Amino acid sequence: MILVTGATGQIGRLVVKNLLKMDVSVRAFVRNEEAFHDFEDSLLEVAVGTFEDTKSIEKAVEGVEQLFLVGRDHPDQVMQHENVIEVAERCGVKHIVKLSAFGATQESSIDLMRWHAETEERLKNSKMNWTFIRPHLYMHNLLRFGDRVAESGIFSAPMGSDKFALVDVRDIAEVSAKVLKDGDHVSNIYTLTGPTAVTYEEIAEQLSEILGQPVKYNAVPPKEFYEELLEKGTPSWRAKDLAYITEAYPDDRKSLITNDINTLLNRPARNITAFLRDYQADFR
Ligand SMILES: NC(=O)c1ccc[n+]([C@@H]2O[C@H](COP(=O)([O-])OP(=O)(O)OC[C@H]3O[C@@H](n4cnc5c(N)ncnc54)[C@H](OP(=O)(O)O)[C@@H]3O)[C@@H](O)[C@H]2O)c1
Repeated sequence: MILVTGATGQIGRLVVKNLLKMDVSVRAFVRNEEAFHDFEDSLLEVAVGTFEDTKSIEKAVEGVEQLFLVGRDHPDQVMQHENVIEVAERCGVKHIVKLSAFGATQESSIDLMRWHAETEERLKNSKMNWTFIRPHLYMHNLLRFGDRVAESGIFSAPMGSDKFALVDVRDIAEVSAKVLKDGDHVSNIYTLTGPTAVTYEEIAEQLSEILGQPVKYNAVPPKEFYEELLEKGTPSWRAKDLAYITEAYPDDRKSLITNDINTLLNRPARNITAFLRDYQADFR
């Protein structure tokens, strides 16, 4: 049995679906009891609980050999994931596949990268096997700009003019499901990127072409972006991470392209053009 945490999230839900498609038994760990009610599959079990409630984690890991660990960025996430790791280790889980992030280091100026690195270190020091999936920035983050693009044809972001090999969430979920199903990949770190690195200006150009109307990228200085987020009520830790995220990637690695998706899935990673075409309705 494989336990998928964060199963209502954008990655976790797809990991569950990919595992079911491969005829693998899955238990989905969810906070909301209603989750998956509309989704019938004889191989799917649902366990209700939270990362804060260790009793609920104990129940969820019964008979589980492999666990997919994913949550939401939060100042409490190291503690939340420590709860999962401690219970899993005590209750005989053999292998944790952790969704981490490209750029995760203990020295990062970005909080979420240090939090990921801390949990990775904890797993390395556990008795369990581990695999880390470290995706680069998600293509799906661009969907946050959908309404602005539809309304005004302009989107603003603090991404400067650097190139990033954004990666498709669907590929991340497929890789994660494969790693879980295979049951090996022990002590491997997979850095997942798209097949091409693009600037946000190039993304705007591609969107213009696909939508048949001009789209412009407005490169906002991080400090300005940070202050705008604070004004909208975003917590300061989150505003800082979002505004200064490019600092997480050293200059010589920002536009890094890896072959890990190709190697694991035996096909090329989805590219940004395909993503924008697939999701064009979100920008109209
Ligand atoms: N965005 C990027 O560009 C990017 C790039 C690389 C790595 N990442 C990493 O990707 C991860 C986020 O993945 P995602 O996009 O799939 O997240 P998501 O859609 O926000 O989903 C988060 C999941 O975690 C669950 N969760 C949150 N707090 C919980 C708690 N206290 N107890 C139990 N479950 C809890 C949520 O449940 P509810 O539905 O009940 O809220 C949800 O199922 C983060 O670790 C982030 O650092 C992101």
